[in-house]
Amino acid sequence: MENNIQEIKKSILAPPSGGGGGVGASVRVFAPATVANVVCGFDVLGFAINEPGDEVIMRVTNKPGIVISKITGDDGRLPLAPEKNTVSVSVQQYLQSIGRADMGLDIELHKKMPIGSGLGSSSASTVAGLFAIKTLLGDDTDPINILPFAMKGEEIACGHGHADNVAPALFGGFVLVRSYEPLDVIRLPHPKDLYCAIVFPDVDVPTREARQIIRNKINMKDAVTQWGNIAGLVSGLFMGDIDLIGRSMQDVLVEPVRSMLIPDFYKMREMAMELGAVSFGISGSGPSVFAFTRDEATARAITQKLQQHLTNIKIGSNSYVSPINDGGPKVLE
Ligand code: HSE
Repeated sequence: MENNIQEIKKSILAPPSGGGGGVGASVRVFAPATVANVVCGFDVLGFAINEPGDEVIMRVTNKPGIVISKITGDDGRLPLAPEKNTVSVSVQQYLQSIGRADMGLDIELHKKMPIGSGLGSSSASTVAGLFAIKTLLGDDTDPINILPFAMKGEEIACGHGHADNVAPALFGGFVLVRSYEPLDVIRLPHPKDLYCAIVFPDVDVPTREARQIIRNKINMKDAVTQWGNIAGLVSGLFMGDIDLIGRSMQDVLVEPVRSMLIPDFYKMREMAMELGAVSFGISGSGPSVFAFTRDEATARAITQKLQQHLTNIKIGSNSYVSPINDGGPKVLE
């Protein structure tokens, strides 16, 4: 991680001194939610969705340092202290890397998605913040340069700096993290008509804890099954073969453990598959679950059925239906 940051320090061009970034300049940025792991690709695969997502409003001030003046939509769960908040810490590290650590910034974070949902909530906030500062400074270098700073945000949020949420939030689309040391991230194609149905059951599954329960050692037979599936999924994405994508999305390593944290996980899978899902699994570390479908109507039928089931067992839920988002973060104004 440190090495990556050192390399990136060298590669980022000094932002323009005129133009963007003057006192009073401001920007409002949206960054999307993401589905990490994509069932078989623990910590290495992820994709972005159109909604939900988070918004950051960033203004340049004349007082050195970062202030988080407002957070909405978090029920008071996120820290305003700039040394503890994932957005300000990652932005500060980026500023340090380009020699602008004394820049004054006021940040508002508007959470438009649930925290602890398995939909990359902290990633959406962090990426929105980093994209905002990049925009304000007119830094048009490849977004890959800010990925390590976004990963730092994940480390603060859950104790581990994985990239399978932040990379798709930053680039949009489907992303493979081929390697962490050195960081090597590959954007994958995907069939355009793939839809994603997401249901977020209202139960608490903190990522930090969901990572602690995973086995550290795996046996060779399971490893062979898993890497066959990952290769099958990536091949299916390149070939546009939705059947291959569906039959490759099987996880023998993580899902058998984490599914215990999700109410009626296997029942929900059965229901989704009966309604025509291509595949079904846990989104990120859960508790959200997702299904791929071939069309929007099937995705909506699945969310409706699963939410009804959760209501019957007295668990509240939210749902989202989206194609894969290829745009990543965007400037709203
Ligand atoms: N790959 C991560 C995990 C995603 O499953 O723990 C959640 O942040």
